Amino acid sequence: MAYEPPYPKPLQPTDKRSLWNLFKRGKRSWLETLYEGAYNGKLSRIRLPGTQIFLVRFPNLVREVLIDRYENFPKHELIEEALKPLLGESIFTTNGPTWERQRRMLDPAFEQARLKEVFPMMHGAADDLFKRFGELKDGETREIEVEMTHVTADIILRTILSVPLEGEGAREIFHSFKQYQEKATLMIQLGVFRIPLWLMPHHYFAWKKSGRKIRARLEEVIKQRYESYHAGETGGHKDILASLLEARDTETGTSFSQTELVDQVAMLFLAGHETSASALSWTLFLIAKCPDIQEQIFQETQEVIGDRLPEFRDVSKLKMIRNVFRETMRLYPPVGFLTMRKADNVGCLHNREVPDGSPVVVSPWLMHRHRELWEEPDAFIPERFEGGLDQEKCAYIPFGAGPRICIGAAFAMQEAMLILASLVSRFRFEATPGQDPTPISRLTIRSENGIPLQIFKR
Ligand code: HEM
Repeated sequence: MAYEPPYPKPLQPTDKRSLWNLFKRGKRSWLETLYEGAYNGKLSRIRLPGTQIFLVRFPNLVREVLIDRYENFPKHELIEEALKPLLGESIFTTNGPTWERQRRMLDPAFEQARLKEVFPMMHGAADDLFKRFGELKDGETREIEVEMTHVTADIILRTILSVPLEGEGAREIFHSFKQYQEKATLMIQLGVFRIPLWLMPHHYFAWKKSGRKIRARLEEVIKQRYESYHAGETGGHKDILASLLEARDTETGTSFSQTELVDQVAMLFLAGHETSASALSWTLFLIAKCPDIQEQIFQETQEVIGDRLPEFRDVSKLKMIRNVFRETMRLYPPVGFLTMRKADNVGCLHNREVPDGSPVVVSPWLMHRHRELWEEPDAFIPERFEGGLDQEKCAYIPFGAGPRICIGAAFAMQEAMLILASLVSRFRFEATPGQDPTPISRLTIRSENGIPLQIFKR
């Protein structure tokens, strides 16, 4: 029998359905609001005060929303409002021509050639992680989400700005982001339930303040680089900011202004480290629970890299690790719910009239555990990814799909292979008995009380 890792048991039809119950459960985690029926079927409508949310969960319909008719499903302004104090007008929340321009200008920073250049910058962060783990007593327990958030934040700061997560400034950015995320999740929830934000002034002001603090710190670094670049000094940087400074819109020839750069950099930090940290933490938990699989991937690392750090060219050879990582993102997709979309001139979807302005939600969490799409949907079976997936396109969407697919997907895969291969080749992980984590949905899928793992040296 394959291992079935923990997930919140779906609600039953007899469980209370009042709005207040839904709000309370949703405040703890959106996963707690899901009924058994949500893991089946194709489309449902959830009635809320003054609106109805359409929950889409079958490949052909996901395809319609994310790919074929994506212009009729722009990102909802509720998300933009929740993220604006931090991200301004960033690619994550914009729509139409503004988004198209930003995407054209950001794409080159994430092309294969550029990734090859930033890959060695990830090594520094990985080395620091091994040093921290190397100093532990054999079998000592660490909270693995904290460790993975640290290393991925370090990687993102080094690859975007060439700054390690060492100094006071970088630490302040890191802690303010944490606070910002908690508050932004609450703001989105209040928005969905149409509760005015000023009813919670304490959270409201903390949310605005943390956004301002991060921007002020990022502005310091970016201003300096922006001025040098426009004075003709490149400084030899090969990071993502260098690529953004060079970016020109092919249609208008314009470059990013300083404010636009702060918007994009803040967004890349937000989108690029929590997601990877979530995926890496769940992967380590799953291999800790499945020692046979952990041993198999250890053998793979010995064959491919031995005791050195993986190079860019090694990544494609780490096939088993990749399957383990993909299967982890099936069971615990870091983005459990894609950014809410807003119906614009949709007409009908699956024979249902979708009024203009209705929120439309696509959930990787539900797609990946859909009872009709997957065999043993709740079991951890990395081999199901061997030789590619038989599933219809859009059944497996950890990075989304269509024109708004994650721009950092290849970056995230390289980063994950580097961290996992080098960790597994040096350390062995064991789960702490009786302390299995409960997944909850914030901006990403996290554990409610952390994931404590014991770490042994190989
Ligand atoms: C395991 C790691 C990651 C996962 C699972 C992930 C997942 C996603 C998903 C599902 C979306 C689509 C959201 C939607 O359609 O509503 C997305 C968008 C995005 N991601 Fe990622 N992401 C990851 C890592 C990264 C990294 C490392 C970066 C950058 C350094 C990044 C940057 C972005 C950006 C900029 C977008 C918005 C793209 C657009 O709207 O054009 N992500 N990501």
